[in-house]
Amino acid sequence: MKDIVEKLEARRAGARAGGGERRIEAQHKRGKLTARERIELLMDRESFEEFDMFVEHRSNDFGMEKTKIAGDGVVTGWGTVNGRTVFVFAKDFTVFGGSLSETHAQKITKIQDMAMRARAPIIGLFDAGGARIQEGVASLGGYGEVFKRNVIASGVIPQISVIMGPCAGGDVYSPAMTDFIFMVRDTSYMFVTGPDVVKTVTNEIVTAEQLGGASVHATKSSIADGAYDNDVECLLQMRRLLDFLPANFSAGVPEWPSFDNTEREEPSLDTLVPDNPNKPYDIKELILKVADEGDFFELSETFARNIVVGFGRIAGRTVGFVANQPMVLAGVLDSDASRKAARFVRFCDAFGIPIVTFVDVPGFLPGTAQEYGGLIKHGAKLLFAYSQASVPLVTVITRKAFGGAYDVMASKHIGGDVNYAWPTAQIAVMGAKGAVEIIFRSDLGDPDKIAARTREYEERFLSPFIAAERGYIDDVIMPRATRPRIARALAMLRGKTVEMPGRKHDNLPV
Ligand code: HXC
Repeated sequence: MKDIVEKLEARRAGARAGGGERRIEAQHKRGKLTARERIELLMDRESFEEFDMFVEHRSNDFGMEKTKIAGDGVVTGWGTVNGRTVFVFAKDFTVFGGSLSETHAQKITKIQDMAMRARAPIIGLFDAGGARIQEGVASLGGYGEVFKRNVIASGVIPQISVIMGPCAGGDVYSPAMTDFIFMVRDTSYMFVTGPDVVKTVTNEIVTAEQLGGASVHATKSSIADGAYDNDVECLLQMRRLLDFLPANFSAGVPEWPSFDNTEREEPSLDTLVPDNPNKPYDIKELILKVADEGDFFELSETFARNIVVGFGRIAGRTVGFVANQPMVLAGVLDSDASRKAARFVRFCDAFGIPIVTFVDVPGFLPGTAQEYGGLIKHGAKLLFAYSQASVPLVTVITRKAFGGAYDVMASKHIGGDVNYAWPTAQIAVMGAKGAVEIIFRSDLGDPDKIAARTREYEERFLSPFIAAERGYIDDVIMPRATRPRIARALAMLRGKTVEMPGRKHDNLPV
């Protein structure tokens, strides 16, 4: 028995050493942690149970039979994050560059299957060189097995991908089919083909960072939902994110103790909207003052900043916030903002997270760039997502709600359950100036007449009352009372159920 135990300990120590001292040192020198160090930071202390530590590859090509390393380049298992079960796989760059072999893929798919059976979230930490080159098609097959499971799990359990080193070739598509991608600045990059291939095919000369660094994916391409300065910060933020997420689509949102009174009023909100309708204000101030303890986990913070999305809590329970941001492009809806918000609304709806929408939107962004870029289809994504949502929808119009954008932003007509407006709300087809120039074109030569018409239009339409008279707005509320009113609406909507007609699946304008 003693012999066996010693042998076991020796084999465990061998597996834990990964690719060896030299490669671990190289990993640290690059500012990166090892796979096991990352898991330790992500999971609750001593909660991680590793699977398949002794798995080795079965390749005999290119002399591979002489180099077998226990674990085969990926550490897999499960543990807890603040007491809740989470499955994890972490690519070990020190072992064959974290590349994916047939057995490496089998370790990942085992964890994916277990996460699905346990109906618990799965998180993948990526730091790898793509397909195991020595294994050829067996590696490609392995990727396919992972991809298929990503799709089957979509909308059943939350799937998170964290890019903490290279992520290229086959490795990019699994993250792309998960719910969220996060990156670490300066040490991670993601692309389908690297700078060398780019140069050969297109003659473009780019660095890995310029092609697929966090600065690209968190701001330009929208592939990444966030970027952090280093591994430690990134993993701690992942723990924070997991606290907001339900375990699966039917588990309901987690409920944490809250010390923030739901009846708390915020008098400062009464003066948040400036008197001048063209002056911006920061919608995040409203979110922070409404959310429990001002705790807001923002997603895609540096992409399409004209709309703000992220998770907060009210009465200790997760809600998704969607808000136009008047500070950026006056909060207009363009293609990027529509796509960003649509994806977030769909995530919330898939996992039963109620959505709180703050509206201050002057309309859709005009221009050839937008139209050529498919604004109609991208705007329709957000319209579709809200119209389809069966989770509680609480909407507050703080200022402008103009044109089609009024309909899109969780209006009563497309399924808003409780729709409030602040006294400063303006709900109309368009702003007064544009409206008067169209309907009173013949008066354009007479500034006095135009001024009178504009005043008349403003009085008649630029208030919340026309919409309230029709019941499109349930009540006009004081800004200070926004948190209590939303909290009460959400409590009332806890049992919300919506029947949809049977079908195979919808046809979202992708
Ligand atoms: C086998 C690999 C490997 C791979 C790296 N290694 N990538 N082994 N298969 N794909 C090994 C290296 O041989 C080396 O082993 C160790 O990992 C570290 O690699 P280095 O090159 O020394 O590190 P670095 O300089 O940091 O460069 C990292 C890298 C580079 C940029 C990821 O290794 C690289 O370009 N790798 C190949 C990437 C690639 O083309 N992958 C295939 C993509 S095609 P030693 O023993 O020296 O430590 C693909 C198709 C799938 O994925 C499509 C499915 C849909």
